[in-house]
Amino acid sequence: MTAPKKRIGVYPGTFDPITKGHLHIIKRASKQVDKLIVGVAENVRKAPLFSTDERVKMVQHDIDNMYEKYCEIEVRPFDNLLIHFARDMHAHCIFRGLRAVSDFEFEFQMTGMNARLSPDIETLFLMAADKWQFVSSSFVKEICALGGDVGEVVTPATEAQLKRKLGRS
Ligand code: COA
Repeated sequence: MTAPKKRIGVYPGTFDPITKGHLHIIKRASKQVDKLIVGVAENVRKAPLFSTDERVKMVQHDIDNMYEKYCEIEVRPFDNLLIHFARDMHAHCIFRGLRAVSDFEFEFQMTGMNARLSPDIETLFLMAADKWQFVSSSFVKEICALGGDVGEVVTPATEAQLKRKLGRS
């Protein structure tokens, strides 16, 4: 009898920067698969504040310091189509976090397109917990740039990187 295949999931995002909301999804997604690959998108469309290399390092650092993770987690940059990246990683599924109803339209379209491109890779949605429903990376950057406190929604290491980048340290 052959051993069951390792279940691999991809959790993609821009992570500019990674927040505790993302980390909560990563923790929960790590319970569902044998290996989770966190894909850091180059995403030129969003003109990120941090370079891809910086974002990968920040995500890696936060994951290394997570208390609860339930499978092997790897962090990788990608600059191609998400579905091609997922296929190259031999992923069975893609995880997406859903916050408010406003996320639904975009996710619905993206899932539909991805399903057409590769029907055998499922997209699985995890509802963001109440506490993180209103967190977004754009707000985090704006609040930090204007001198507000973001310590509740990002880790101390990410907060330090944000302050350095925004000239607030
Ligand atoms: N907690 C906190 N914030 C969250 C969150 C959570 N659980 N889930 C999402 N967010 C926020 C993010 O901070 C981000 O905020 P921002 O818009 O202010 O930056 C926003 O919700 C959406 O972020 P995210 O879920 O990370 O997605 P994204 O839009 O940054 O990334 C990609 C989308 C990278 C997955 C998508 O663009 C992609 O697949 N790109 C590759 C190219 C491709 O395949 N294109 C065709 C798609 S059909």
